[in-house]
Amino acid sequence: MARKIIAGNWKMNLNLAQGAALVKASDDYLNANPAKHIDVIVAPPAHQLVQTVKLSTNTKLSVVAQNMCAHENGAYTGEISASMLVDAGVELVIVGHSERREIFGEDDALLEAKLHKALEYDLYPIFCVGESLEQRQAGIHFKHIEKQLEAGLKNFNADQIPHIILAYEPIWAIGTGETASPEQAQEMHAFIRKFLTGKFSATVADETSILYGGSVKPSNAKDLFSQPDIDGGLIGGASIQIDSFLELIKIGE
Ligand code: G3P
Repeated sequence: MARKIIAGNWKMNLNLAQGAALVKASDDYLNANPAKHIDVIVAPPAHQLVQTVKLSTNTKLSVVAQNMCAHENGAYTGEISASMLVDAGVELVIVGHSERREIFGEDDALLEAKLHKALEYDLYPIFCVGESLEQRQAGIHFKHIEKQLEAGLKNFNADQIPHIILAYEPIWAIGTGETASPEQAQEMHAFIRKFLTGKFSATVADETSILYGGSVKPSNAKDLFSQPDIDGGLIGGASIQIDSFLELIKIGE
């Protein structure tokens, strides 16, 4: 059975004190209300990774990096390697967020390399896929998602796939308040599950967590998370507000 996950992607937000306050509030909440059915993970900006790991050492929170370099080490100014993330105590890493693809030009080949490097270091990658509004309006959104999945997962074998968390984040829903309807999200999640079944097996498909991301908030989370193929959320804006993040953990549970 796929793990249920509530993931907060802080993006380039929160200073050290704000991040510490959010982690402490989440930790206090989880100590008072132990999560039995979900994993709660947070993705701070890089300068907060060590602090967040330290603050969450004895808690139910896991720490995710928002990005990492595909290379082992060396002359890559500004980059952080998989081994450095492991050294910092980070357990997961987001790969292929649409903002990395669109703003920083990360292509399928680079993202596949990042996925392999992450698994080489036993980091759980959260591999993001998602279509643009134009692609959806043109009716090619399924084809686009299949292309992204095919390109990212083509050289993995079946037993590696459940170590990769998938996140469907329609670009037109990210940061816009235009959340995909539960039906739209479920339709694409079912498509992704079917892709995994065809390419690998029904068991692999069943064991792989598929998160939804794109304007998830407490007001829409229950309907989204209750969908059969949605295994939780990868949440941006609503995850950097303490009250709404705690509410989302409660709803996810
Ligand atoms: O990675 C999650 C993010 O892209 C969603 O952002 O602000 O629409 O929840 P937001």
